[in-house]
Amino acid sequence: MSNGMPFDKSIGLWMSDKKSQKLNWKELIHACNSHGFNLVKLDLERPFEDQGRIDVLLHKLTDIIAAADQGDVKASMNIRRVEQYLSNHPNVTIIDPLDNVRILLNRYCYYTILQDEISFQNQGIFTPAFAEFSTNNIEQNIEIMRNNGVTFPVICKQTIAHGSKSAHEMVLIFNERGLHVCKAPCVVQSFVNHNAVLHKVFVVGNRYHICERPSLKNFYASDDLEPIYYRTGEVCKADSQSTLSILDPHDKAEIKMTLNEDKIRSIIRVLRKKIGLILLGFDVVIDNTTGNHAVIDINVFPSYDNFPNFFEHLLQCINESLVKYNSDNFDINVTDNFVGNYRLNGLINVGDSRTNYRVMGMNIIN
Ligand SMILES: Nc1ncnc2c1ncn2[C@@H]1O[C@H](COP(=O)(O)OP(=O)(O)O)[C@@H](O)[C@H]1O
Ligand SMILES: [Mg+2]
Repeated sequence: MSNGMPFDKSIGLWMSDKKSQKLNWKELIHACNSHGFNLVKLDLERPFEDQGRIDVLLHKLTDIIAAADQGDVKASMNIRRVEQYLSNHPNVTIIDPLDNVRILLNRYCYYTILQDEISFQNQGIFTPAFAEFSTNNIEQNIEIMRNNGVTFPVICKQTIAHGSKSAHEMVLIFNERGLHVCKAPCVVQSFVNHNAVLHKVFVVGNRYHICERPSLKNFYASDDLEPIYYRTGEVCKADSQSTLSILDPHDKAEIKMTLNEDKIRSIIRVLRKKIGLILLGFDVVIDNTTGNHAVIDINVFPSYDNFPNFFEHLLQCINESLVKYNSDNFDINVTDNFVGNYRLNGLINVGDSRTNYRVMGMNIIN
């Protein structure tokens, strides 16, 4: 994929066929070549050694790692092969390391990291109270919820955040009676009322981009309500038009909570330090009574569809990684070529496109 031109460095890329079909290969190849990289599309079924030289291994292996961890034989073989390749070729830079990626496959695991982050407490940042159910014993689960301060309504999510459609099938539960729908292993998390606005933050190394998306309307604990099932994609995509996103009349008067970018930067710094990924995204909702920012989800290598000049930023980041990038050092000297970018403490906001959707039924963004 080099147009016959010689390059002294090479990026090997693996992602699923589904993702690969959506990728603008022409643009990516152009960005790679203009930064002096050849691009190799890797086949997971064949030894990487046979597929040419690799200096940087860029991958979206989340679903394969999740399948391998759950005992899928083929997936396990493929992951073992990648790990063996990396141990045989210690000079290959991997974006991102598999062990760091593994942290984000398990919701309980990364919620615990967020909850344990003491620096969040005095900054108005939190992760909503959560608890893990490892059995379907309702009495026991009520006790686990109580011990962890989880209050109704709750959202029940599968513990494993990748590798299956059901990872994104959520249930909103309003009372103890509704807990029978929880299928262990899962986590339940206190629902935070946020006026149906979700803030998605996309991070590429020390650059980030923030988008708004529709989300769930406000809900309250109730003895009468039955559980509500939804898929994330039906509610939270830019073009989703779910009735679950339409605020109730008494909520419409609510003042819009504004996102505090200092808080977002604090979250990015903590995630970079504690989870250590170059390519990640996270979801924030703003508590409509306190204005505190809740981190409710973290994702590996999200889809960067709306990230301005994504490939260019990616390549700059890859270059920085190759010059012994130190993830603790946020004051590295990055050439900042993009109009509209701004830097604060070494983090760069690559451009603003937050108001790119409207919530159905009412205009909450002006
Ligand atoms: N604790 C919460 N409080 C309020 N809304 C939530 C909470 N957790 C999840 N949601 C809503 O559910 C959606 C899906 O949850 P999320 O944890 O992001 O799962 P996914 O991995 O499918 O993106 C979120 O985008 C948000 O709209
Ligand atoms: Mg999410």
